[in-house]
Amino acid sequence: MTRTLWDSSLGKKTVMAVSGLIMLLYLVVHMIGNLKIFFGSGEFNHYAHWLRTMGEPFLHYEWALWIVRVVLVAAVVLHAVSAYQLSRRDIRARPAKYVHRKPRASYATRTMRWGGIILGLFIVWHILDLTTGTVHPGGFQSGHPYQNVIDTFSTWYGNTIYIVAMLALGLHVQHGFWSAAQTLGAGSATRDRVLKTIANALAAVLTLGFICVPVAVMTGVVS
Ligand code: HEM
Repeated sequence: MTRTLWDSSLGKKTVMAVSGLIMLLYLVVHMIGNLKIFFGSGEFNHYAHWLRTMGEPFLHYEWALWIVRVVLVAAVVLHAVSAYQLSRRDIRARPAKYVHRKPRASYATRTMRWGGIILGLFIVWHILDLTTGTVHPGGFQSGHPYQNVIDTFSTWYGNTIYIVAMLALGLHVQHGFWSAAQTLGAGSATRDRVLKTIANALAAVLTLGFICVPVAVMTGVVS
């Protein structure tokens, strides 16, 4: 039963929708957390420390953070694997006799594929930059994310990578939220307008909420 569901296109779309919504929830929380940078280094670094002590004393140090990490990794893997399989299916299903006409996927589909690849690469870069410090410009200071964020957005390539990724994120969320709602059966003639408005609003809030951090560092509002 579970096997048949996973094998069906609807099953894979459902997995994409649910894992996408989990990541979306994380992004909203992450964006709000990032905005604490406007309250200064003390408050931002204190917040980052709290992420590690969350749930204590019931949970041990960093356990809650690790639970979130495991859920996120599972969501990313399930999302990417089902996206890949659905897109293979889509290519195979194209009629061979039209091969010379090169039938192309729709604009939305192509944007989602490229956006997904850009975001996947961005997440790897971002973790190596601000979590492990491996590719961080300057000396990465564990426990001092405020200074680390300033260092990243003091480089032209840091700003470019982040801003391009945030624009890709906006487009991905705008179409992705809408698709997820359709897959999960929330769409209807009367609700479609509302759903489109919610998708647009979510995409705009996330893009602007994330982008205002590098912009604030570039303009010296945060230093
Ligand atoms: C301007 C935009 C962003 C800024 C300033 C930012 C900032 C940060 C910082 C400072 C950390 C390290 C937190 C810590 O160690 O306490 C972090 C971790 C992380 N961020 Fe972002 N972030 C941004 C955008 C994003 C986006 C768009 C995504 C996802 C698409 C994302 C996903 C993550 C993930 C997965 C982690 C690792 C969490 C962990 O396991 O410790 N971030 N971010």
